[in-house]
Amino acid sequence: MPITTAIFDAYGTLFDVNAAAREAATDSPVLADNWPQIARDWRLKQLQYTWLRAVADQHCDFWDVTCDGLDWALEAAKINDPTLRERLLALYRELSAFAEVPAMLATLKQRGLKTGILSNGSPDMLNAAVTSAGIGGDLDAVLSVQDVGVFKPHKTVYDMVGKHYGTAPEQVLFVSSNGWDAAGAAGYGFQTVWVNRAGEPMDRLYAKPHHMLADLTTIPDLCA
Ligand code: LAC
Repeated sequence: MPITTAIFDAYGTLFDVNAAAREAATDSPVLADNWPQIARDWRLKQLQYTWLRAVADQHCDFWDVTCDGLDWALEAAKINDPTLRERLLALYRELSAFAEVPAMLATLKQRGLKTGILSNGSPDMLNAAVTSAGIGGDLDAVLSVQDVGVFKPHKTVYDMVGKHYGTAPEQVLFVSSNGWDAAGAAGYGFQTVWVNRAGEPMDRLYAKPHHMLADLTTIPDLCA
């Protein structure tokens, strides 16, 4: 079955989650040397909290786990600075998109594909990021797990795509920079791409992504 619909994870895939700490470090000497570690801890704790909340049936707004993950990362770095915390969170709301994203989405639309985001992010977080990146015009839908009350990789989240677009799973190309998300989507039945910018080893999970790319540039070719 040909691919009709390209669905993207948001954080880390379209939007650069390291940009908040990297940009704050330009005028916060306390972050100068350790911003990469803080960005890593922030992201890892944010994700761990989503998985733990999903298995414990303790869903919350993705913004809350984003704040909790940052608080863990700052404490681990022995930083107690409420103004810096607010600045990092403000930057997170307006993360930049990776450079190739606008042209890649525009090409998909020119070729007649449906496009969209499927993300743990809450609708207000996603709208802020999509607006600041200026990519809303090439996205047919922005789907948030808030509508189903559980985080990825719960099957109910991937079900949202078929419900919204009327597609069979094999008509969907699902693209994520999170290896566990690409694996979860492959196990669900989507065609999948793992965008592995950092050259990490593949997660040992119950399914494997179909494709691995270094960035998003050639996504339209995979839909041809
Ligand atoms: C998302 C996270 C997993 O956007 O990156 O859903």
